[in-house]
Amino acid sequence: RILILDFGSQYTQLIARRVREAGVYCEIRPWDVDGAAIHDFAPRGVILSGGPESVHEDNDETPRVDDAVFATGVPVLGICYGMQALAHQLGGAVEASSTKEFGYAEVRARGHSVLLRDIEDRTNAEGHGLLDVWMSHGDRVAELPGGFKVIASTPSAPIAGIGDDQRGLYGLQFHPEVTHTRQGQRILARFVHEVCGCKGDWTAGNIIDDLVARVRQEVGDENVLLGLSGGVDSSVVAALLHRAIGDQLTCVFVDNGLLRLAEGDEVMQTFARHMGIRVIRVDAEDRFLDALAGEADPEVKRKIIGRTFIEVFDEEAGKLDDIQWLAQGTIYPDVIESAGASTGKAHVIKSHHNVGGLPARMNLKLLEPLRELFKDEVRRIGLELGLPAEMIHRHPFPGPGLGVRILGEIHKAYADCLRQADAIFIEALRESGWYEKTSQAFAVFLPVKSVGVTGDGRRYEWVVALRAVETIDFMTARWAHLPYDFLDHVSRRIINEIEGVSRVVYDISGKPPATIEWE
Ligand code: XMP
Repeated sequence: RILILDFGSQYTQLIARRVREAGVYCEIRPWDVDGAAIHDFAPRGVILSGGPESVHEDNDETPRVDDAVFATGVPVLGICYGMQALAHQLGGAVEASSTKEFGYAEVRARGHSVLLRDIEDRTNAEGHGLLDVWMSHGDRVAELPGGFKVIASTPSAPIAGIGDDQRGLYGLQFHPEVTHTRQGQRILARFVHEVCGCKGDWTAGNIIDDLVARVRQEVGDENVLLGLSGGVDSSVVAALLHRAIGDQLTCVFVDNGLLRLAEGDEVMQTFARHMGIRVIRVDAEDRFLDALAGEADPEVKRKIIGRTFIEVFDEEAGKLDDIQWLAQGTIYPDVIESAGASTGKAHVIKSHHNVGGLPARMNLKLLEPLRELFKDEVRRIGLELGLPAEMIHRHPFPGPGLGVRILGEIHKAYADCLRQADAIFIEALRESGWYEKTSQAFAVFLPVKSVGVTGDGRRYEWVVALRAVETIDFMTARWAHLPYDFLDHVSRRIINEIEGVSRVVYDISGKPPATIEWE
């Protein structure tokens, strides 16, 4: 396994994802993690991330590479700041560069380093390999540390890559982890496979075997409770725990009346009937709708839904005895983002299932089998565990569900109407191949009456808005440019098939300034 030391780069998570894509397990630790922890981790190689600091400034506070890293004798790859720190500490010199480079650059690979040999996008007239890379630096290495040679250069950074094949020490000024560096994945794979000697056996099947063994050891013959939402993470936890501990798992699925069309039945079909998992379905629609009655404020609605969920879940759990564990679908990005890998004390409870305070109150131990996995790994093991691809690749759905897609007050009739409109929209997206091309798509119920003419009468009926976005991180998003013919087809179906809707509109706002949801 590989240890990644985080010097504060925004790309550190990407490095970890790329290493795992190469089939090698890795973990991120803060740059100042205890030397003993580095020894205990026993990495086959270490990657030093980039970071915002400058090593040449006369400042003792600048992050250093712990001597334990070099003492382990394993290969090290320094990226950007990581390369400068490595060069500086091994006796080289780093200076502020007169020309700063940010963005695309063409790098010439030099010599025959193990790291870059035969990796190139094209060759120049002299036959040297050229690489398209993503560069971001203000400082540059001016003098090589002993034993190193130059393995890459650009006109403004003659030392853009350094290497000591003997010791397996490398530095790259550019970022192999971002996709703009077209050969980046090959370079990182080369480092972990050939330089560090890691086998690429971190595959879905092996991850499952490993997790199953760990869960069995942790849980023993005790019993586990899981709040199953039907979302990807909790679904994969359910399938995984079922494989690991079978009937020691009990799931509680709360139908809050704000789910999508047939969602509750599908969850029961998949988990209870098909996989044979014990799932308690709680039909709490009335309870949620009663609690929400008359409330129009979005944040208050969210709080009511969250609180009611806890009450219902709590009551169900109270009916079960002999439960020692509460399982949650926390995944690695939740751990990193919420607590920060750099605090080293990452232990968070996923808030979106709204069971935050429960484990302590119920006196349960917390089981988070996916807390070391990225979303794409969770999806892969979900498929391997036999969950339907449709469920694994479903667009995200907010915890408060249709509660934030019915603007203002919530009524059952609105929810029923929205469920149908949403189902028509999603079905059409799937049929046309647009579902996979969009990141999130849904219908919104607008409690506005607009005029329509049917037959010989005028009717004042509701408006449905359609929203479809493309995004990588859900922090920013662009509205999906769905074809007019497609929108026309969906609009006709919704107006013809759903009573009470006379108008369909399409949301063409980007995020920012608009958000993805309407409330
Ligand atoms: P916004 O609307 O903030 O949404 O652009 C970004 C992403 O977050 C989801 N979202 C929620 N998820 N509880 C959730 O679990 C919520 O209250 C909530 N609000 C928004 C939204 O669906 C989108 O994927």
